[in-house]
Amino acid sequence: FEAKVVKLKNSIKNIPDFPKPGILFRDVSSLCQDKDAFALSIDMLYEAFKDEKIDMVVAAEARGFVFGAPLAQRLHAGFAMARKPGKLPRSTLEESYDLEYGTSTLQITEDALQSGQRVLIVDDLLATGGTAEAMIRLCKHFDVEIVCTAFVIELFDLGGAVKIKNDYNIETFSLVEFP
Ligand code: PRP
Ligand code: HPA
Repeated sequence: FEAKVVKLKNSIKNIPDFPKPGILFRDVSSLCQDKDAFALSIDMLYEAFKDEKIDMVVAAEARGFVFGAPLAQRLHAGFAMARKPGKLPRSTLEESYDLEYGTSTLQITEDALQSGQRVLIVDDLLATGGTAEAMIRLCKHFDVEIVCTAFVIELFDLGGAVKIKNDYNIETFSLVEFP
């Protein structure tokens, strides 16, 4: 497992001062461009959740879709899109979350999940946890079991995993961790 994590870590480019001075941006697009690293990331997520009887994967636009959809297919689960406002053509539920400046909103189709389903929440990266929390709250409109929230990258100094555990008692799983 550790050797695979190193392989993933090495595929992630670190961009200083993006999008703002002082931020070291962990660029998941370089992982996706590396065919071995991209396949490995999906393989590792699949291995972690293959025995969890996942019915549905929920992932956030846009980068969450990159990992959520192939993982859902491998797990033979359905895939529900949490989208930015105004994109979904049918009735939606929505939840807002805090960004550094202002707020943002995610919407999900109101029939996206069915009672009793086991749901895995997926995103490329966990930072403050605001996006993941919005997805948790979207799922809580339905009578489903949230099995875990899963990420390729976790920026642990930003405290997202602690917040998700404290506020919702939901576990997080991540492949690669950075401060
Ligand atoms: C990024 C990333 C996560 C989120 C993590 O998405 O893909 O979804 O931020 O940050 P948080 O834990 O502090 O919420 P972004 O909102 O930039 O949208 P994108 O996927 O469309 O680029
Ligand atoms: N990389 C990618 N997305 C992010 C980051 C980062 O370092 N921080 C917050 N969102």
